[in-house]
Amino acid sequence: MNPVDADRFRDAMSMTASGVTVVTTNGEAGRLGVTVSTLCSLSLEPPSVVLCIHRDSRALPAIVANGVFVANVLGSDQQRVADTFAGRVPELKDNRFGEGEWHALATGAPVLRGSLCSFDCRVAEIFEFGSHRIIAGIVVDLACAGTEPLVHANRSYQKLQAA
Ligand SMILES: Cc1cc2nc3c(=O)[nH]c(=O)nc-3n(C[C@H](O)[C@H](O)[C@H](O)COP(=O)(O)O)c2cc1C
Repeated sequence: MNPVDADRFRDAMSMTASGVTVVTTNGEAGRLGVTVSTLCSLSLEPPSVVLCIHRDSRALPAIVANGVFVANVLGSDQQRVADTFAGRVPELKDNRFGEGEWHALATGAPVLRGSLCSFDCRVAEIFEFGSHRIIAGIVVDLACAGTEPLVHANRSYQKLQAA
């Protein structure tokens, strides 16, 4: 048996710091979004990103079917958007886009006004691994507005501080 159980793994991963991103999609399969900590740069040629989403996420089938998403990287003043899209704001559970102001770029997926940076993407590849799906997207447009990132570490939101 693998001695690294889910709790031990989660505890260890909570020590790693990450940015906080709200991944959104829009199209025939609907307008949905989910908070993730797993956005990562993939390649320069073509410009692309990768993110990991749980197989049971309601947003996942919509992202797959719509074939487009925006990775909205949150600024330090956007904690409530992060909580909303993580399903932690009860009054917005069925109206996540009620928080924040939204517009669109090339793909039509929702872009959060005032985000640190929003990467407008077309889905390129989907890989299945364990409990998660790894989604690779080609960046077809982007918009940057903010300066100070929202950071997630030690199971809470943090602000960056110069070392
Ligand atoms: C800071 C933070 C980071 C998260 N990172 C991820 C992630 O990388 N992948 C994921 O599937 N869920 C992640 N979650 C959990 C989802 O946001 C949460 O389960 C959400 O309610 C799923 O919504 P959905 O089922 O409507 O798509 C994260 C939550 C928070 C608060």
